[in-house]
Amino acid sequence: MIITTFSELTIDGKLSLGTGRSSKDLFAFYGPELGRWFHQQRAAHDAIMVGAGTVRADNPQLTVRNAPGKSPLRVIPLGMTSLPRESTILNDGLRTLLIVPSHHPQTYDNPETETITCGTTAVDLRELMQILSRRGIESLMVEGGSRLLHSFFRENLVDRIVIKHIPVLSGDPSAPNYLQGAKMALSEWQVDTWHCIGGVCVATYVRKRSEETAVAA
Ligand SMILES: NC(=O)c1ccc[n+]([C@@H]2O[C@H](COP(=O)([O-])OP(=O)(O)OC[C@H]3O[C@@H](n4cnc5c(N)ncnc54)[C@H](OP(=O)(O)O)[C@@H]3O)[C@@H](O)[C@H]2O)c1
Repeated sequence: MIITTFSELTIDGKLSLGTGRSSKDLFAFYGPELGRWFHQQRAAHDAIMVGAGTVRADNPQLTVRNAPGKSPLRVIPLGMTSLPRESTILNDGLRTLLIVPSHHPQTYDNPETETITCGTTAVDLRELMQILSRRGIESLMVEGGSRLLHSFFRENLVDRIVIKHIPVLSGDPSAPNYLQGAKMALSEWQVDTWHCIGGVCVATYVRKRSEETAVAA
């Protein structure tokens, strides 16, 4: 399975404009062209994932709306906190796969929602990737947020990084960082493509080949 993280980052490396703010605020800083491109990327993936924190903060739809194509399967890893019952992904009639650790306190019985248990207090992402592969998922788009990205990088599961560099400063030091405390060896990654869409630079980073990493180290 190819795993790609997609993030919108402010110039000061934040995922939103402030604590508790929705990352949807960042949409105001770019036009429909980038929105269309982003939905094309969604349509090109089998599954899309955000963490429970993003569902609580942003109440996203995680569907393809601004481009032709099918919406990917929504996969949401939960921890020890319940999701609001009114969350859009639980009520819009589209399929959602909830991944709950065995100690998760709540059950979800919406007709379009399937629940799988994986891990004890947080989802075991390596095991989850095997489960998704067995279900035929070959491409996964991970949109965040901060703690989920941290876990993916910690587990060394990421193949490609896509970052939309939004030309705005958050200015709030407590706004969520790109990686919540994660260490990432930058020498392992290099820019693959860098282009502007509707005034926003979109960069794709891939792992360096091993001989290039050796030179950089
Ligand atoms: N700019 C962007 O591209 C972008 C994209 C998405 C989100 N965001 C922003 O990111 C912020 C949310 O980030 P966040 O860090 O609070 O939440 P998050 O990363 O979306 O979700 C983290 C939560 O997922 C659950 N989880 C289960 N297994 C996990 C595992 N193995 N590793 C990590 N998490 C696991 C836990 O839920 P419990 O809390 O229940 O334990 C954990 O707290 C919001 O401000 C949102 O707007 C920005």
